[in-house]
Amino acid sequence: MRESGADKLFNYPYRRLADLLDATKPGDRFGAPILTHIGEPQGAPPDFVPSLIAENAGGWSKYPSPKGKADYRRAVADWLTKRYGLPDGMVDPDRHIAPAPGTREQLFMAGLIAVSKKRARSPLSDKPIVGLPNPAYHVYYGAALMAEAEPLPVPAASPETNFLPHYAALPEPTLARMAIAYYCTPSNPTGGVATLDQIALELASARRHGYVLALDECYSEIYNETPPPGGADAVLQAAHDSADAGDPFRNILIFNSLSKRSGAPGLRAGFVAGDPELIEKLIMLSGYGGSQIPDPLAPAATELWRSETHVEKNRALYQALFKIADEELGGYPGYTRPAAGFFLWLDVGDGVAAARRLWAEAGVKALPGAFMSHPDAGGTETPSDRYIRIALVHAPDVTRDALRRVRRVLEDQA
Ligand SMILES: Cc1ncc(COP(=O)(O)O)c(C=O)c1O
Repeated sequence: MRESGADKLFNYPYRRLADLLDATKPGDRFGAPILTHIGEPQGAPPDFVPSLIAENAGGWSKYPSPKGKADYRRAVADWLTKRYGLPDGMVDPDRHIAPAPGTREQLFMAGLIAVSKKRARSPLSDKPIVGLPNPAYHVYYGAALMAEAEPLPVPAASPETNFLPHYAALPEPTLARMAIAYYCTPSNPTGGVATLDQIALELASARRHGYVLALDECYSEIYNETPPPGGADAVLQAAHDSADAGDPFRNILIFNSLSKRSGAPGLRAGFVAGDPELIEKLIMLSGYGGSQIPDPLAPAATELWRSETHVEKNRALYQALFKIADEELGGYPGYTRPAAGFFLWLDVGDGVAAARRLWAEAGVKALPGAFMSHPDAGGTETPSDRYIRIALVHAPDVTRDALRRVRRVLEDQA
Protein backbone atom coordinates (compact mmCIF):
# COMPACT_ATOMS: atom_id res chain seq x y z
CA MET A 1 0.00 0.00 0.00
CA ARG A 2 1.28 3.47 -0.84
CA GLU A 3 1.77 5.96 1.98
CA SER A 4 -0.85 8.75 2.02
CA GLY A 5 -0.16 12.44 2.59
CA ALA A 6 -1.85 12.07 6.00
CA ASP A 7 0.59 9.26 6.89
CA LYS A 8 3.48 11.48 5.92
CA LEU A 9 2.48 14.34 8.24
CA PHE A 10 5.17 14.80 10.87
CA ASN A 11 5.29 16.38 14.29
CA TYR A 12 5.37 20.12 14.77
CA PRO A 13 8.77 21.60 15.67
CA TYR A 14 7.61 22.13 19.26
CA ARG A 15 6.56 18.49 19.63
CA ARG A 16 9.97 17.46 18.31
CA LEU A 17 11.60 19.79 20.82
CA ALA A 18 9.53 18.33 23.66
CA ASP A 19 10.69 14.84 22.61
CA LEU A 20 14.28 16.07 22.75
CA LEU A 21 14.19 17.96 26.05
CA ASP A 22 11.26 16.91 28.21
CA ALA A 23 13.16 14.19 30.03
CA THR A 24 15.98 16.60 30.95
CA LYS A 25 15.91 18.87 33.99
CA PRO A 26 16.64 22.51 33.06
CA GLY A 27 19.97 23.71 34.40
CA ASP A 28 19.51 26.28 37.19
CA ARG A 29 23.00 27.68 37.78
CA PHE A 30 21.96 31.01 36.17
CA GLY A 31 18.37 31.14 37.48
CA ALA A 32 14.88 30.13 36.34
CA PRO A 33 14.36 28.70 32.84
CA ILE A 34 13.86 31.12 29.93
CA LEU A 35 11.80 29.93 26.95
CA THR A 36 13.08 31.36 23.69
CA HIS A 37 11.97 28.56 21.39
CA ILE A 38 8.57 29.96 20.47
CA GLY A 39 7.82 33.24 18.69
CA GLU A 40 4.96 34.45 20.80
CA PRO A 41 4.98 38.24 21.13
CA GLN A 42 4.77 39.24 24.78
CA GLY A 43 3.56 42.87 24.56
CA ALA A 44 -0.06 43.82 25.33
CA PRO A 45 -2.20 45.18 22.47
CA PRO A 46 -3.46 48.79 22.79
CA ASP A 47 -6.22 49.70 25.28
CA PHE A 48 -8.85 50.23 22.60
CA VAL A 49 -8.79 46.49 21.83
CA PRO A 50 -10.57 45.21 24.99
CA SER A 51 -13.00 48.14 25.01
CA LEU A 52 -14.02 47.64 21.36
CA ILE A 53 -14.45 43.92 21.96
CA ALA A 54 -16.72 44.64 24.95
CA GLU A 55 -18.76 47.18 22.94
CA ASN A 56 -19.40 44.61 20.21
CA ALA A 57 -20.34 41.72 22.50
CA GLY A 58 -23.75 41.51 20.80
CA GLY A 59 -22.00 39.72 17.91
CA TRP A 60 -21.26 36.58 19.96
CA SER A 61 -24.64 35.16 18.98
CA LYS A 62 -23.90 35.43 15.23
CA TYR A 63 -21.99 33.29 12.74
CA PRO A 64 -19.42 35.52 11.02
CA SER A 65 -19.47 35.57 7.21
CA PRO A 66 -16.50 34.06 5.27
CA LYS A 67 -16.24 37.28 3.26
CA GLY A 68 -15.94 39.22 6.51
CA LYS A 69 -17.01 42.77 7.14
CA ALA A 70 -16.73 45.50 4.48
CA ASP A 71 -15.06 47.83 7.02
CA TYR A 72 -12.38 45.26 7.74
CA ARG A 73 -11.60 44.63 4.05
CA ARG A 74 -11.49 48.40 3.45
CA ALA A 75 -9.07 48.94 6.37
CA VAL A 76 -6.78 46.22 4.96
CA ALA A 77 -6.91 47.71 1.44
CA ASP A 78 -6.10 51.16 2.87
CA TRP A 79 -3.22 49.74 4.90
CA LEU A 80 -1.70 48.00 1.86
CA THR A 81 -2.14 51.13 -0.25
CA LYS A 82 -0.37 53.31 2.30
CA ARG A 83 2.35 50.86 3.32
CA TYR A 84 3.44 50.07 -0.25
CA GLY A 85 2.60 53.42 -1.90
CA LEU A 86 0.05 51.88 -4.28
CA PRO A 87 -2.17 54.03 -6.47
CA ASP A 88 -5.65 54.61 -5.02
CA GLY A 89 -8.07 51.99 -6.23
CA MET A 90 -5.43 49.42 -7.19
CA VAL A 91 -6.54 47.18 -4.31
CA ASP A 92 -10.26 46.49 -4.57
CA PRO A 93 -11.48 45.41 -1.10
CA ASP A 94 -14.23 43.31 -2.68
CA ARG A 95 -12.08 41.40 -5.18
CA HIS A 96 -8.52 41.44 -3.85
CA ILE A 97 -8.98 40.85 -0.10
CA ALA A 98 -10.02 37.81 1.90
CA PRO A 99 -10.14 38.28 5.67
CA ALA A 100 -8.34 35.54 7.60
CA PRO A 101 -8.53 34.27 11.18
CA GLY A 102 -4.75 34.62 11.36
CA THR A 103 -2.93 33.47 8.24
CA ARG A 104 -2.06 29.88 9.14
CA GLU A 105 -5.38 28.45 7.96
CA GLN A 106 -5.35 30.42 4.71
CA LEU A 107 -1.73 29.51 3.95
CA PHE A 108 -2.85 25.91 4.25
CA MET A 109 -6.01 26.34 2.16
CA ALA A 110 -4.16 28.24 -0.57
CA GLY A 111 -2.00 25.13 -1.04
CA LEU A 112 -5.08 22.91 -1.39
CA ILE A 113 -6.65 25.25 -3.95
CA ALA A 114 -3.51 25.76 -6.02
CA VAL A 115 -2.73 22.03 -6.17
CA SER A 116 -6.31 21.13 -7.04
CA LYS A 117 -6.29 23.63 -9.93
CA LYS A 118 -2.87 22.51 -11.12
CA ARG A 119 -3.83 18.84 -11.07
CA ALA A 120 -6.85 19.55 -13.30
CA ARG A 121 -4.57 21.25 -15.87
CA SER A 122 -1.77 18.63 -15.86
CA PRO A 123 -1.33 15.19 -17.38
CA LEU A 124 -2.22 12.49 -14.83
CA SER A 125 1.41 11.36 -14.72
CA ASP A 126 2.60 14.79 -13.50
CA LYS A 127 2.35 15.14 -9.74
CA PRO A 128 1.98 18.83 -8.82
CA ILE A 129 4.88 20.32 -6.88
CA VAL A 130 4.67 22.61 -3.86
CA GLY A 131 7.80 24.72 -3.44
CA LEU A 132 8.78 25.56 0.11
CA PRO A 133 11.86 26.99 1.74
CA ASN A 134 14.17 24.67 3.67
CA PRO A 135 13.90 25.48 6.57
CA ALA A 136 10.26 26.58 6.64
CA TYR A 137 7.17 27.30 8.66
CA HIS A 138 5.73 23.77 8.90
CA VAL A 139 2.24 24.71 7.62
CA TYR A 140 3.53 24.78 4.03
CA TYR A 141 4.51 21.11 4.39
CA GLY A 142 1.10 20.27 5.82
CA ALA A 143 -0.60 21.82 2.79
CA ALA A 144 1.66 20.00 0.31
CA LEU A 145 1.13 16.64 2.00
CA MET A 146 -2.64 16.92 2.48
CA ALA A 147 -3.02 18.02 -1.15
CA GLU A 148 -1.12 14.83 -2.16
CA ALA A 149 1.41 17.00 -3.96
CA GLU A 150 5.18 16.62 -3.98
CA PRO A 151 6.77 18.98 -1.43
CA LEU A 152 9.97 20.42 -2.86
CA PRO A 153 12.17 21.94 -0.14
CA VAL A 154 14.51 24.52 -1.67
CA PRO A 155 17.66 25.50 0.27
CA ALA A 156 17.25 28.67 2.28
CA ALA A 157 19.22 28.10 5.45
CA SER A 158 22.51 29.89 4.98
CA PRO A 159 24.21 33.05 3.72
CA GLU A 160 25.01 31.44 0.34
CA THR A 161 21.29 31.69 -0.51
CA ASN A 162 20.73 35.00 1.29
CA PHE A 163 18.63 32.82 3.65
CA LEU A 164 15.85 32.59 1.03
CA PRO A 165 14.82 30.06 -1.63
CA HIS A 166 15.37 30.81 -5.32
CA TYR A 167 12.53 29.05 -7.12
CA ALA A 168 12.97 30.96 -10.37
CA ALA A 169 16.33 29.20 -10.90
CA LEU A 170 14.86 25.68 -10.75
CA PRO A 171 14.90 23.59 -13.94
CA GLU A 172 12.09 24.22 -16.42
CA PRO A 173 10.44 20.77 -16.03
CA THR A 174 10.22 21.36 -12.27
CA LEU A 175 8.70 24.80 -12.71
CA ALA A 176 6.23 23.37 -15.20
CA ARG A 177 4.85 21.12 -12.42
CA MET A 178 4.86 23.82 -9.73
CA ALA A 179 1.40 24.58 -8.30
CA ILE A 180 2.42 27.04 -5.59
CA ALA A 181 5.70 28.33 -4.16
CA TYR A 182 5.77 29.59 -0.57
CA TYR A 183 8.11 32.48 0.06
CA CYS A 184 8.50 33.93 3.54
CA THR A 185 10.07 37.38 3.84
CA PRO A 186 11.17 38.49 6.39
CA SER A 187 11.77 34.84 6.99
CA ASN A 188 10.92 32.62 9.89
CA PRO A 189 13.28 31.13 10.99
CA THR A 190 16.29 32.66 9.24
CA GLY A 191 15.52 36.40 9.32
CA GLY A 192 16.34 36.59 5.59
CA VAL A 193 14.81 39.62 3.86
CA ALA A 194 14.21 39.53 0.11
CA THR A 195 15.13 42.48 -2.05
CA LEU A 196 12.51 43.87 -4.41
CA ASP A 197 14.50 42.37 -7.30
CA GLN A 198 14.30 38.91 -5.73
CA ILE A 199 10.53 39.15 -5.25
CA ALA A 200 10.08 40.55 -8.76
CA LEU A 201 12.04 37.62 -10.22
CA GLU A 202 9.92 35.13 -8.31
CA LEU A 203 6.69 36.82 -9.41
CA ALA A 204 7.80 36.86 -13.05
CA SER A 205 8.63 33.15 -12.83
CA ALA A 206 5.22 32.36 -11.27
CA ARG A 207 3.47 34.21 -14.10
CA ARG A 208 5.61 32.64 -16.81
CA HIS A 209 4.98 29.11 -15.54
CA GLY A 210 1.42 29.61 -14.29
CA TYR A 211 1.87 28.88 -10.60
CA VAL A 212 0.98 30.83 -7.46
CA LEU A 213 3.56 32.81 -5.52
CA ALA A 214 2.43 32.74 -1.87
CA LEU A 215 4.20 35.52 -0.02
CA ASP A 216 4.08 35.05 3.73
CA GLU A 217 4.83 38.52 5.10
CA CYS A 218 3.68 38.32 8.70
CA TYR A 219 6.99 39.75 10.02
CA SER A 220 6.94 42.71 7.59
CA GLU A 221 6.50 45.40 10.25
CA ILE A 222 9.29 44.27 12.56
CA TYR A 223 12.49 45.61 11.13
CA ASN A 224 15.67 47.42 12.12
CA GLU A 225 15.82 50.40 9.81
CA THR A 226 14.20 50.04 6.42
CA PRO A 227 10.71 48.61 5.81
CA PRO A 228 11.22 45.35 3.91
CA PRO A 229 9.83 45.30 0.38
CA GLY A 230 6.86 43.04 -0.21
CA GLY A 231 4.76 41.39 -2.87
CA ALA A 232 2.76 44.58 -3.36
CA ASP A 233 5.97 46.41 -4.41
CA ALA A 234 6.64 43.74 -7.02
CA VAL A 235 3.05 43.92 -8.26
CA LEU A 236 3.34 47.68 -8.66
CA GLN A 237 6.68 47.42 -10.43
CA ALA A 238 5.37 44.77 -12.83
CA ALA A 239 2.29 46.91 -13.56
CA HIS A 240 4.58 49.83 -14.49
CA ASP A 241 6.86 47.68 -16.61
CA SER A 242 4.23 45.94 -18.68
CA ALA A 243 1.38 47.09 -20.84
CA ASP A 244 -0.44 43.86 -19.99
CA ALA A 245 -4.03 44.62 -19.09
CA GLY A 246 -4.52 41.59 -16.82
CA ASP A 247 -5.29 41.96 -13.12
CA PRO A 248 -2.22 43.47 -11.41
CA PHE A 249 -2.41 40.83 -8.64
CA ARG A 250 -2.58 37.77 -10.89
CA ASN A 251 -0.60 34.74 -9.67
CA ILE A 252 0.22 36.27 -6.31
CA LEU A 253 -1.20 35.87 -2.82
CA ILE A 254 0.11 38.04 0.02
CA PHE A 255 -0.49 36.93 3.62
CA ASN A 256 -0.21 39.20 6.63
CA SER A 257 -1.75 39.39 10.08
CA LEU A 258 -2.00 41.32 13.31
CA SER A 259 -0.26 38.56 15.24
CA LYS A 260 3.26 39.96 15.04
CA ARG A 261 2.70 43.56 13.92
CA SER A 262 0.22 44.30 16.70
CA GLY A 263 1.39 41.65 19.15
CA ALA A 264 -2.10 40.10 19.04
CA PRO A 265 -1.82 36.43 17.97
CA GLY A 266 -4.81 35.57 20.19
CA LEU A 267 -7.09 37.89 18.23
CA ARG A 268 -6.79 35.65 15.15
CA ALA A 269 -7.07 38.36 12.51
CA GLY A 270 -5.20 38.72 9.25
CA PHE A 271 -5.77 38.84 5.52
CA VAL A 272 -4.89 37.40 2.16
CA ALA A 273 -4.55 39.90 -0.70
CA GLY A 274 -4.09 39.02 -4.33
CA ASP A 275 -5.37 37.24 -7.40
CA PRO A 276 -9.17 37.73 -7.48
CA GLU A 277 -9.86 34.22 -8.76
CA LEU A 278 -7.91 32.66 -5.89
CA ILE A 279 -9.33 35.10 -3.34
CA GLU A 280 -12.84 34.05 -4.36
CA LYS A 281 -11.92 30.37 -3.95
CA LEU A 282 -10.30 31.04 -0.56
CA ILE A 283 -13.46 32.73 0.70
CA MET A 284 -15.56 29.88 -0.68
CA LEU A 285 -13.34 27.16 0.84
CA SER A 286 -13.32 28.99 4.15
CA GLY A 287 -17.14 28.64 4.12
CA TYR A 288 -16.70 24.85 3.91
CA GLY A 289 -13.81 24.09 6.21
CA GLY A 290 -12.42 27.27 7.68
CA SER A 291 -13.12 29.62 10.51
CA GLN A 292 -13.69 33.36 10.36
CA ILE A 293 -12.83 36.42 12.42
CA PRO A 294 -15.63 36.49 15.05
CA ASP A 295 -17.95 39.52 14.73
CA PRO A 296 -17.14 40.93 18.19
CA LEU A 297 -13.42 40.94 17.34
CA ALA A 298 -13.63 42.43 13.84
CA PRO A 299 -14.02 46.12 14.85
CA ALA A 300 -10.95 45.92 17.12
CA ALA A 301 -9.00 44.20 14.33
CA THR A 302 -10.14 46.89 11.86
CA GLU A 303 -8.89 49.59 14.20
CA LEU A 304 -5.52 47.84 14.60
CA TRP A 305 -4.99 47.99 10.81
CA ARG A 306 -5.83 51.69 10.94
CA SER A 307 -3.42 52.47 13.78
CA GLU A 308 0.35 52.68 13.42
CA THR A 309 1.25 54.17 16.83
CA HIS A 310 1.25 50.85 18.65
CA VAL A 311 3.19 49.24 15.77
CA GLU A 312 5.90 51.89 16.03
CA LYS A 313 6.12 51.20 19.78
CA ASN A 314 6.37 47.46 19.16
CA ARG A 315 9.05 47.98 16.55
CA ALA A 316 11.09 50.16 18.92
CA LEU A 317 10.91 47.37 21.50
CA TYR A 318 12.22 44.80 19.01
CA GLN A 319 14.94 47.21 17.88
CA ALA A 320 16.07 47.51 21.51
CA LEU A 321 16.17 43.70 21.71
CA PHE A 322 18.33 43.48 18.58
CA LYS A 323 20.69 46.01 20.11
CA ILE A 324 20.94 43.79 23.19
CA ALA A 325 21.67 40.83 20.90
CA ASP A 326 24.49 42.82 19.31
CA GLU A 327 25.89 43.66 22.75
CA GLU A 328 25.68 40.10 24.07
CA LEU A 329 26.52 38.09 20.94
CA GLY A 330 28.51 40.56 18.83
CA GLY A 331 31.82 38.94 17.86
CA TYR A 332 30.48 35.40 18.32
CA PRO A 333 31.36 33.84 14.93
CA GLY A 334 27.90 32.33 14.26
CA TYR A 335 25.99 35.53 15.00
CA THR A 336 24.60 38.01 12.48
CA ARG A 337 22.00 40.61 13.33
CA PRO A 338 18.93 39.90 11.19
CA ALA A 339 17.51 42.82 9.22
CA ALA A 340 13.93 42.01 10.25
CA GLY A 341 11.62 39.62 12.09
CA PHE A 342 12.25 38.65 15.70
CA PHE A 343 14.38 35.52 15.43
CA LEU A 344 18.10 35.01 15.82
CA TRP A 345 19.39 32.29 13.51
CA LEU A 346 22.60 31.32 15.17
CA ASP A 347 25.21 29.06 13.57
CA VAL A 348 26.38 26.84 16.42
CA GLY A 349 27.84 23.93 14.46
CA ASP A 350 25.37 21.32 15.74
CA GLY A 351 21.95 22.76 16.57
CA VAL A 352 20.52 19.70 18.33
CA ALA A 353 23.56 19.31 20.58
CA ALA A 354 23.57 23.04 21.38
CA ALA A 355 19.83 23.04 22.23
CA ARG A 356 20.41 20.09 24.60
CA ARG A 357 23.30 21.82 26.34
CA LEU A 358 21.55 25.20 26.59
CA TRP A 359 18.63 23.53 28.33
CA ALA A 360 20.59 21.17 30.54
CA GLU A 361 23.28 23.67 31.56
CA ALA A 362 21.56 27.05 31.45
CA GLY A 363 17.78 26.50 31.39
CA VAL A 364 17.44 28.24 27.99
CA LYS A 365 15.05 26.56 25.60
CA ALA A 366 16.04 27.21 21.96
CA LEU A 367 14.80 25.49 18.81
CA PRO A 368 17.29 23.42 16.77
CA GLY A 369 17.22 24.69 13.18
CA ALA A 370 16.82 21.11 11.96
CA PHE A 371 13.36 21.00 13.54
CA MET A 372 12.24 23.59 10.99
CA SER A 373 13.16 21.15 8.21
CA HIS A 374 11.70 17.80 7.26
CA PRO A 375 12.79 15.08 9.75
CA ASP A 376 14.08 12.88 6.91
CA ALA A 377 16.02 15.66 5.18
CA GLY A 378 19.22 14.72 7.04
CA GLY A 379 22.91 15.41 6.45
CA THR A 380 24.14 18.02 4.02
CA GLU A 381 20.61 18.33 2.58
CA THR A 382 19.77 20.30 5.71
CA PRO A 383 22.21 23.09 6.37
CA SER A 384 19.81 24.21 9.12
CA ASP A 385 21.35 21.38 11.20
CA ARG A 386 24.08 23.86 12.08
CA TYR A 387 21.69 26.45 13.56
CA ILE A 388 19.46 27.22 16.50
CA ARG A 389 16.56 29.66 16.43
CA ILE A 390 16.08 32.04 19.34
CA ALA A 391 12.97 34.22 19.58
CA LEU A 392 13.56 37.73 20.89
CA VAL A 393 10.15 38.21 22.45
CA HIS A 394 10.86 38.74 26.15
CA ALA A 395 11.43 41.92 28.16
CA PRO A 396 14.90 43.46 27.64
CA ASP A 397 16.37 42.25 30.97
CA VAL A 398 15.14 38.68 30.38
CA THR A 399 16.47 38.72 26.82
CA ARG A 400 19.85 39.96 28.00
CA ASP A 401 19.97 37.27 30.66
CA ALA A 402 19.05 34.56 28.10
CA LEU A 403 21.64 35.67 25.53
CA ARG A 404 24.36 35.99 28.14
CA ARG A 405 23.67 32.39 29.20
CA VAL A 406 23.72 31.29 25.55
CA ARG A 407 27.12 32.85 25.02
CA ARG A 408 28.54 31.39 28.23
CA VAL A 409 27.44 27.88 27.28
CA LEU A 410 28.45 28.09 23.62
CA GLU A 411 31.87 29.51 24.43
CA ASP A 412 32.44 26.88 27.11
CA GLN A 413 32.00 24.37 24.34
CA ALA A 414 34.53 26.04 22.06
C1 LIG B 1 6.19 32.34 9.02
C2 LIG B 1 4.84 32.36 9.65
N1 LIG B 1 3.77 32.44 8.87
C3 LIG B 1 2.53 32.47 9.37
C4 LIG B 1 2.31 32.39 10.72
C5 LIG B 1 0.90 32.36 11.19
O1 LIG B 1 0.56 33.37 12.03
P1 LIG B 1 -0.95 33.81 12.22
O2 LIG B 1 -1.83 32.63 11.88
O3 LIG B 1 -1.03 34.18 13.63
O4 LIG B 1 -1.17 34.92 11.26
C6 LIG B 1 3.41 32.30 11.60
C7 LIG B 1 3.21 32.19 13.05
O5 LIG B 1 4.06 31.96 13.84
C8 LIG B 1 4.71 32.30 11.04
O6 LIG B 1 5.80 32.23 11.80
